[in-house]
Amino acid sequence: SPRQSDTAKVNSIECIHIRDHEIETWYTTPYPEEYNRNKILYVCEYCLKYMNSRYIYHRHQKKCTKVRPPGNEIYRDGRISLWEVDGRESVIYCQNLCLLAKLFLNSKTLYYDVEPFIFYILTEREDINDGSSRFHLVGYFSKEKLNSSDYNLSCILTLPVYQRKGYGQFLMDFSYLLSRREFKWGTPEKPLSDLGLISYRSFWKVKCAQVLVQLKELCDVADSILNVSLEDLSNISGMTPTDVVLGLEQLEVFVQAQDISSKHLNYGIRIDSWQRIESIANEWTRKGYQVVNASKL
Ligand code: ACO
Ligand code: ZN
Repeated sequence: SPRQSDTAKVNSIECIHIRDHEIETWYTTPYPEEYNRNKILYVCEYCLKYMNSRYIYHRHQKKCTKVRPPGNEIYRDGRISLWEVDGRESVIYCQNLCLLAKLFLNSKTLYYDVEPFIFYILTEREDINDGSSRFHLVGYFSKEKLNSSDYNLSCILTLPVYQRKGYGQFLMDFSYLLSRREFKWGTPEKPLSDLGLISYRSFWKVKCAQVLVQLKELCDVADSILNVSLEDLSNISGMTPTDVVLGLEQLEVFVQAQDISSKHLNYGIRIDSWQRIESIANEWTRKGYQVVNASKL
């Protein structure tokens, strides 16, 4: 865990019990005083109600009727589902989600003013013998409903037990898919956390590689010259030009050259090895990660 000496850590919640997991917390969160005194906080993974004791939790598990997040299932591919939850309709759920997320976020985030946001909840389906299904919480991202900026994601979390399995990339990819469907360019809200930045850098790199490979296949470039602008790459990916440049830099294909005559800097893309780019473009599939299938939205 990235938790360092968190001197501001005033509460004593050391871990949360959710589903069958005990997850060590990284940062503090403003749960009501009487909940913040516990070492272990019990959280129902379906309604996100938080509880003081194991006893109350077990009693709740018996009577809680929820087996999935609220809202509409807008994507399903195999065992993976995404649920769109309106912060105005499911206020308590979204507030509880934000409080939970804050345990793994250093920055100040919102907890109570959830109405202006939509939450996209990622779940893994478990089919029970009796024919019913349960949808286990894996992670989420939130998005501001109306915003004048390019932000397409305000906060993202993968529960630590599910991290490093590609779910972060999945959620990021999904946020850009939504932007493309709105015919907009998107970027995550700043500042990014350390893990957020590492993950986005990795995402932008792979995404740019995928777009370049896609273009190459479309154009069938025999002479290895691809005539493409930054705007083209943004339109295809849904990423802002700034983020495209960051991705191209990570890919080490972005080159600058001083034009002596005009004293202007020229920028271009130079690909020395398509094999390398193709290998990066296939990284998620190679690692067995879930990839977004746009036709399932
Ligand atoms: N150490 C090194 N590299 C990492 C790490 C890590 N701990 N975590 C992610 N990466 C990099 C790796 O390149 C990784 O790919 P790889 O595992 O194949 O090498 C890549 O990022 C993506 O990893 P994912 O498995 O797709 O991402 P994950 O599901 O772990 O989620 C996330 C990433 C959401 C940032 C997660 O770490 C998290 O929830 N952190 C706590 C909350 C947070 O900081 N959120 C971002 C705040 S900023 C914002 O919301 C706008
Ligand atoms: Zn519940």
